[in-house]
Amino acid sequence: MSESTAIVTGANKGLGFGVSEALARQGYKVLMVGRNKSSLEDASELIKQRGLNVEVAIVDLGDAQELIHFSKSIEKKWPQVSILVNNAGVLLESEISEMDNETNTLLVSRTMIEDSFAINTLAPFELMKSIIPLMKKNNYGRIVNVSSGMGSLNEMTSGWPAYRSSKAALNALTKVFSHEVHGFNIKVNSICPGWVRTDMGGENATRTIEEGIQGIIWAATLDEEGPSGGFYRDGKSINW
Ligand SMILES: NC(=O)c1ccc[n+]([C@@H]2O[C@H](COP(=O)([O-])OP(=O)(O)OC[C@H]3O[C@@H](n4cnc5c(N)ncnc54)[C@H](OP(=O)(O)O)[C@@H]3O)[C@@H](O)[C@H]2O)c1
Repeated sequence: MSESTAIVTGANKGLGFGVSEALARQGYKVLMVGRNKSSLEDASELIKQRGLNVEVAIVDLGDAQELIHFSKSIEKKWPQVSILVNNAGVLLESEISEMDNETNTLLVSRTMIEDSFAINTLAPFELMKSIIPLMKKNNYGRIVNVSSGMGSLNEMTSGWPAYRSSKAALNALTKVFSHEVHGFNIKVNSICPGWVRTDMGGENATRTIEEGIQGIIWAATLDEEGPSGGFYRDGKSINW
């Protein structure tokens, strides 16, 4: 079997960058996916300088045409894809100037909901749809949907409706696709990385990127006995 590939979206910075480097260190060829060419190339150069095997794909996951074109190219270019980390995400409510968590529900526009779903939910959906047939052929695959405790219905309170509902919908896809791959050595899980110091998490977040990526790497490298169709933080099951 030729070299096994891990695809990581939103790989130019934050958790996606950390996950890309960690998987490359484990011997995977990592395809780093992002929309910003120069930032992605700089990030991949940093990892390459450490002697690791990465390449880049420039894709704006919010652009339906680009996303579908990329998804269709995977079978030809990276048929041995064994890991998909749907990491790219947006928290568009943070752009609202009156950042009152409790009331921003009423300030969120329809466009904000649509744009959040495009990145947080529909991009993972398209990628899973394209990649799962390849994983079935290889009878191997690990899919990690990077979700958030903010998408947990159980914990849901007021505020952040675009982010919360797009991550709750991502969790629903985790469940549906995990049933789709039943009987194969393919695992599909949602992971919450905790509150991490990235551009999204902000400087007051409690976790480092190294801490945040642990649960993602765990889910990306589960053995055959590992769980599928669950929602985890630090390798422990959490409420949907
Ligand atoms: N940080 C936290 O506390 C926390 C907590 C729970 C869950 N999460 C989740 O963890 C994941 C990673 O977040 P992070 O904290 O690392 O945030 P981040 O540093 O803001 O990174 C987000 C990544 O998503 C990419 N992205 C956004 N829109 C895109 C698009 N249209 N096309 C392609 N890439 C796009 C960004 O690329 P650009 O640089 O081009 O924008 C960036 O690489 C997200 O799914 C987030 O929801 C984070």
